[in-house]
Amino acid sequence: MMGGQPMGGPAFRRGARANGRVFDPAVASRLWSYMRPHKLRVIWVAVLVAMTAATQVVGPILLKIAIDEFLLARHDLMGLTFISGAFAFTLLVSWTTQAHQSYTMALVAQDVLTQIRGELFEKINRLSLSYHDRHESGVTMSRIVNDVAVFQELLTQGVVHVVADLLLLVGIIATMLVMSPKLALDSLAVLPIMVLATIFFTKRARQAFLKTRETIGEVAAGFQESVSGVRVVQAFAREEVSQDRFERINRGNRNANLFAQALGNAYPPVVELMAMLATAIVLWIGTNAVISGEITVGVVVAFLTYVTRFFQPIRELSMVYSLFQQAMAAGDKIFELIDHPIEVDDRPGARAMPPIVGRVEFDHVDFGYTDVPVLKDVSFAAEPGQTIALVGPTGAGKTSIASLLARFYDIRGGRIRVDGVDIRDVTMASLRRQMGLVPQDPFLFSGTIADNIRFGCPEASDEEVVQAARLANAHDFIESVARTTHRASDSSSPSLARFSPVHAF
Ligand SMILES: Nc1ncnc2c1ncn2[C@@H]1O[C@H](COP(=O)(O)OP(=O)(O)OP(=O)(O)O)[C@@H](O)[C@H]1O
Ligand SMILES: [Mg+2]
Repeated sequence: MMGGQPMGGPAFRRGARANGRVFDPAVASRLWSYMRPHKLRVIWVAVLVAMTAATQVVGPILLKIAIDEFLLARHDLMGLTFISGAFAFTLLVSWTTQAHQSYTMALVAQDVLTQIRGELFEKINRLSLSYHDRHESGVTMSRIVNDVAVFQELLTQGVVHVVADLLLLVGIIATMLVMSPKLALDSLAVLPIMVLATIFFTKRARQAFLKTRETIGEVAAGFQESVSGVRVVQAFAREEVSQDRFERINRGNRNANLFAQALGNAYPPVVELMAMLATAIVLWIGTNAVISGEITVGVVVAFLTYVTRFFQPIRELSMVYSLFQQAMAAGDKIFELIDHPIEVDDRPGARAMPPIVGRVEFDHVDFGYTDVPVLKDVSFAAEPGQTIALVGPTGAGKTSIASLLARFYDIRGGRIRVDGVDIRDVTMASLRRQMGLVPQDPFLFSGTIADNIRFGCPEASDEEVVQAARLANAHDFIESVARTTHRASDSSSPSLARFSPVHAF
């Protein structure tokens, strides 16, 4: 009944897909609630970012003063030395603040991500089976792995870049306008072209990037399907068909990557061209203005530096734009999972199940996984000590009855009582702890055999574990495997040896 879902397949392809929104207030405020405990650090990062931007704006101003005041007006060596020192100092400050801001932001980001991952894990453990029935495990995995990774990128790179780049742009434009409004407007004339080119490339690059992610998801799903389905593939001699299908997927990923790379390589030359054009404008109009005495040589030199520093933030902003889109979509899905209501839960004030004697009673039970009824008006009673076998054709509802008794699902009508107690009146943990359940498809966790036998009862002694293994007719087999493992690894406790579940079955 459980675990029969087709794995892989479209699951990997359905990662967080950008839904177009660059800023989602709900996601942002939720994210902020995780960052609030680190408020002081965040403020410190903001201060450092502002300082970094300031040092980048100040550099060319120092250059202008050096040329205009100390080189051309009067040959002041002391002044020049001082300015050079100040220049070196801004570089030092810039380097320190950048390193510090990255580190501090990483601290905040890692704490936030650890917390989110922890909450997701807890939620997945607690969500009712009805949730896991409806959601492929691949999709749930992708929430934890891919979507959280996008969040990590947003926190460590995205947020800081947006603030830093905007500050830098505003700082540069403002300084240029103050130094020479006319030259500023002339050299900024290339800006609209630059912005249009960036939008053009960003849009296509985003599509190309999505395509590479989709196709690498298909490659992963292809691998996963054939690894987990290798028995079936070999049993039906479908290796070649499987291979052909994988080759098609594999080629798709190759083509998508090549296209994305070609696009990525085409963009930097355009930026370079714009930077050169802006430089030419500054040189041409600037030198003319110097000759006619409107501006000084220092202003032209400062402008030459600014126009080259100008394009980096624009380029980064365009990249951060798509990161924000992805992160908003990822956040939507992550928080939706964290907030997902638990369908089968302890009711308020549920008490602990008293020690079970063993009278089980189904009283006019109605049940269905979906709208389709599976059990209709089922009534029976099993007395303590009785051995009951449920017999029926496949799909009759035998497994469902066992699942209902452990309250993996809630019934639609009627009552299920154990020792006369409605199982919805007691806590699920206290009920299930007193039940034994052998699922149709066993699952082994990593760890020792003993850990696995102890799974439902961690306090069991070594003797009890061995006793359980004897009862299940597994003891001799475990001993023989453990002995060989013991010889190889020299483990101190042969019967509790650690070996991989793969070897066991
Ligand atoms: N998780 C599920 N979601 C939706 N429908 C389900 C689910 N599990 C079982 N069903 C449906 O409920 C009905 C009863 O299934 P159940 O697994 O209880 O039958 P069963 O008697 O145990 O069959 P089998 O002999 O094959 O183990 C079937 O029609 C099945 O398709
Ligand atoms: Mg069954």
